[in-house]
Amino acid sequence: MPVHGAHDEVDLKLTVSRKVVLADGVIGLHLRGQEGEVLPGWAPGAHIDLQFGDDLVRQYSLCGDPRDETTWHVAILREPASRGGSAHAHERVTDGTQLTARGPRNHFDLVPASSYRFIAGGIGITPILPMIREAERRGVPWELLYGGRSRTSMAFLDDLAAFGERVRIRPQDETGLLDLVAFLGDPQPDTAVYCCGPEPLLQAVEKQCEQWPPGALHLERFAPKDLAEPVLHGAFEVELNQSGQIFTIPPERSILEVLHEAGIEVLASCKEGTCGTCETDVVEGEPDHRDSLLTPEEQASNETMMICVSRSKCARLVLDL
Ligand code: FES
Repeated sequence: MPVHGAHDEVDLKLTVSRKVVLADGVIGLHLRGQEGEVLPGWAPGAHIDLQFGDDLVRQYSLCGDPRDETTWHVAILREPASRGGSAHAHERVTDGTQLTARGPRNHFDLVPASSYRFIAGGIGITPILPMIREAERRGVPWELLYGGRSRTSMAFLDDLAAFGERVRIRPQDETGLLDLVAFLGDPQPDTAVYCCGPEPLLQAVEKQCEQWPPGALHLERFAPKDLAEPVLHGAFEVELNQSGQIFTIPPERSILEVLHEAGIEVLASCKEGTCGTCETDVVEGEPDHRDSLLTPEEQASNETMMICVSRSKCARLVLDL
């Protein structure tokens, strides 16, 4: 039975070569392949899946240097409401632990621009860090606004100190909420805005960027957006282009669930529309996009959809499976 997925991915066996404390509640893992093998290439904004157990798969942004071909770096915040992943990483993973990884995958590419404004909240600094280094390499002007609960909870402050005034460190217990009006109040042409952090920050940045040119804002969500009501409340059909099979998707089940139950293997990880693993090409029909990672432009193009959460606006969708 073929395994479908938008990405040709393989499981990688990695070993934790070093575990470090990066800030209060934040650890860093250095991950190496077997016998120092060359790992798949990646670009800033990429993330990987790390598997901590049979049903314990979590996504983490790569925050090291893409030119380092043998070691990947991730930083993991201990979530107070951990569903198991971050607690496992903090408590059980040590130097020498073997982990399975999949990816890298990138829905947060650094697009070419004349300048960049980066905004990071807490652990949201992880994808932004390699972007800053890349902007430096490209010689493109950039600024970073970085907020966190307190200075001791904010990772990578030492690395960022080297960039001087282009970095604004704003711990909430010293300076309050991030001043987005000051940072984003002057919409600029050909400037890309990148933000990663908790949902309230993302929503505030989205609001502040309403006056910016379309497509200027790039967001990455670690947690899914609140789902709106589906457009269709009843069932719809999904036809698989490659086999001609037709499935009925009832209101209470996802496309992914129905296909899995029928033995159709489609790669999936988060199952909440944030990771991109189940991205599937759409051949016909109009999806009801409910994911948290495609941009509004990508959603409007209807070329692909995340079948773990997205549904249909029409009676039948044809998917390239
Ligand atoms: Fe993560 Fe669908 S499995 S987006």
